[in-house]
Amino acid sequence: MRKVYLDHSATTPVESAVVDAMIPYFTKIFGNPSSVHQFGREAKVAIEESREKIANFINAEPSEIIFTSGGTESDNFAIFGIAYSGLKRGKNHIITTQIEHHAVLDACLYLQKNGFDVTFLKVDSNGVVDPDDLKKAITPRTCLISVMHVNNEIGTIQPIDEIGKIAREYGIPFHTDAVQSFGKIDVNVKKLNVDLLSASAHKIYGPKGIGFLYVKKGIEIEKFHHGGSQEAGRRAGTESVPLIVGFAKAVEICSERMIKDYEHVKRLRDHMVEKIRDVFGELNEFLILNSPADKTIPYILNFSVNSAKIEIDADALIYGLDLRGVAVSNGSACTSGSLKPSHVIMALGRDKRTALASVRFSFGRGNSIEDVDYAVEKFFEVVKISAEKAIAK
Ligand SMILES: Cc1ncc(COP(=O)(O)O)c(C=O)c1O
Repeated sequence: MRKVYLDHSATTPVESAVVDAMIPYFTKIFGNPSSVHQFGREAKVAIEESREKIANFINAEPSEIIFTSGGTESDNFAIFGIAYSGLKRGKNHIITTQIEHHAVLDACLYLQKNGFDVTFLKVDSNGVVDPDDLKKAITPRTCLISVMHVNNEIGTIQPIDEIGKIAREYGIPFHTDAVQSFGKIDVNVKKLNVDLLSASAHKIYGPKGIGFLYVKKGIEIEKFHHGGSQEAGRRAGTESVPLIVGFAKAVEICSERMIKDYEHVKRLRDHMVEKIRDVFGELNEFLILNSPADKTIPYILNFSVNSAKIEIDADALIYGLDLRGVAVSNGSACTSGSLKPSHVIMALGRDKRTALASVRFSFGRGNSIEDVDYAVEKFFEVVKISAEKAIAK
């Protein structure tokens, strides 16, 4: 059976050049970067060279990059670190959105249970935040604004530069979760007007377990990990040199082929939309597109089966496709497997059954037009079978 991987927003395969770059740092150059001897110094040099490459890629200073264990840690570090720094100045209000990844959402919910006020901004039916809503939500107690750059379930791009301007006007630290945009579209911290930015390597053909948090010079952040003085005293723990080197290599490859990759996935996305229109014919009325092309990055294409037309079993879609060799997701990777409707699709104003019956296709470098044709054929088969079953009930 053909196997088609269309779940690149969950994770990507590691590029062989990235593996090659990492290997010496597991074996030959194994020193602890905090050690003063030559073994340690060699490892330290590799970290600093990697930091510089990554900083250049987002137009930041190397000292503004703090390596973490991935997107989740970066988000948690930003939220807790800025919230507790704000609390010292008597501020305890956070503004975020209803469609954040759980790494942001759950950190904010935790703080809400522990004395902070949190405003969760609504989005419109396309999944976009209105900067005016943000403006209205700001109070003298607001210590943090956190709005994601690109949504991981539907791919919408938020007006980060505009939100950043508002945050600057009010002097409020502004964080963006750029895990789904970093390496795919231009992420320039100066153009985006952000103070903090999270990214992760495994979404861009790098290894799992490594990410970074960008913290603009001058932003006060409480530390999250206590112990050694690594990362200029901001994140304790021996650095994973091979993962850091691999991350920098993945970034280098992205910087060389970002436009080419973008054009490739755009072709795939556009083809999929057209192909679905053709293949589904009358059954198109069952589908709701959750990723409008003019509001989203082409890496993600999300559909729901409209429960007003037909109610189908939520898991039938994902498992039906899996049985036919097509790997997709229904919600973020971190929530798949649970039957809670996606908070993102619900925030678009869809009902619970429609939100449950959603499918995210996410494209990558290795996909071809033939993969898309195969996936559409199988998607149609699964929806048709589910629809027939639902009608027979
Ligand atoms: C938008 C977003 N933020 C954060 C994360 C968490 O990143 P990591 O898997 O590196 O912890 C993800 C992963 O799916 C994501 O899509």
